Amino acid sequence: MGPHNRAYFLAGSGDEQTASANEAAFQQAQVMPRMLRDLRGGSTEVSVLGQKLAAPLLIAPFAYQRLLHNEGETATARGAEAQSIKMVLSAQSSEPLDSVRASGPSSDWFQLHWMGSRETTQALAQMALAAGFNRLILTIDAPVQGVRDQEIEAQFQLPPDVSAVNLAQFAPPAFTPRENAQSIIFDHIAETLPTWADVAWLIKTLQVPLLLKGILHPEDAAQAQRIGAAGVIVSNHGGRVLDRAPATLSALPAIVDRVGPDYPVLMDGGIRRGVDILIALALGAKAVLVGRPIACGLAVAGDLGVSHVLRLLRDELEIAMLLSGCATVQDIRRDMVHLKL
Ligand SMILES: Cc1cc2nc3c(=O)[nH]c(=O)nc-3n(C[C@H](O)[C@H](O)[C@H](O)COP(=O)(O)O)c2cc1C
Repeated sequence: MGPHNRAYFLAGSGDEQTASANEAAFQQAQVMPRMLRDLRGGSTEVSVLGQKLAAPLLIAPFAYQRLLHNEGETATARGAEAQSIKMVLSAQSSEPLDSVRASGPSSDWFQLHWMGSRETTQALAQMALAAGFNRLILTIDAPVQGVRDQEIEAQFQLPPDVSAVNLAQFAPPAFTPRENAQSIIFDHIAETLPTWADVAWLIKTLQVPLLLKGILHPEDAAQAQRIGAAGVIVSNHGGRVLDRAPATLSALPAIVDRVGPDYPVLMDGGIRRGVDILIALALGAKAVLVGRPIACGLAVAGDLGVSHVLRLLRDELEIAMLLSGCATVQDIRRDMVHLKL
């Protein structure tokens, strides 16, 4: 990865406190192993939103993958398919929906952004459903970009041949500056942002489960549950938005306590090893998503690189389960993990 791509894909926002905290939280967790249990017939299989997953692991949605490899998201989907793992496709995919679906048919999760109005957001959701996606994620933690100092320093810009090709047909909301406007952010952007009522409306119009991604506060998780979201993803966007937000691993337990053990809570941020997946599951996540390690695999070796990273994570999770005495994901219990936060 060259300096431009490193600034875009690997850096966090601001002083990168949150991006670092995500990883540090896993490093500060300790797993207490149990011995001599019967581990025959074990597996990493898990059921999430009515689907069976071979492992509690998905590829997080991340934008503009053609910056890393000329086949972009299409290569990622193929690499995921080879390891029976699903990729969540970003609305800011740089490859067309249909070619991504064709190269990874079991990757049927799609991530939406709010598109400035109810109608346009619903139109994007319908486009994804028409392409065969049947689990939707609405990302709610990035109404504006974070303060991306490293991108500014590297003078990062998208090259002309990389863009959000699937969004080209959706016009951005018109901008009419108000008289005496003081702030572009509060006078313009804030007007196009959704509230809980908008998201509740969207959920009611959809026939498929919708997860909210970017939840850190237990009350927001409870609100998501009340309005009928199928689950939440505890996430701080990999530390790319609000710097100083808490590490996702440390936010997870209070959220699971608030919404109860049966409500689907997924998480992402800072997962770098298979044992990190075990730790997140012990603290109540039903599955995790992984972003930057996949970007690195894609940059190094396209579909094979993605596949290799996923294989490592799957194998490491199995090893961690065996070494800690867990035959199935149900055996991964909260009292196995001690957080030294
Ligand atoms: C370069 C980059 C682009 C991203 N683009 C999106 C996006 O388009 N939509 C989204 O919901 N999240 C996006 N994310 C956030 C990821 O989905 C995920 O929350 C984060 O990468 C997880 O942290 P990790 O990279 O430490 O695994 C992006 C993350 C990165 C690193």
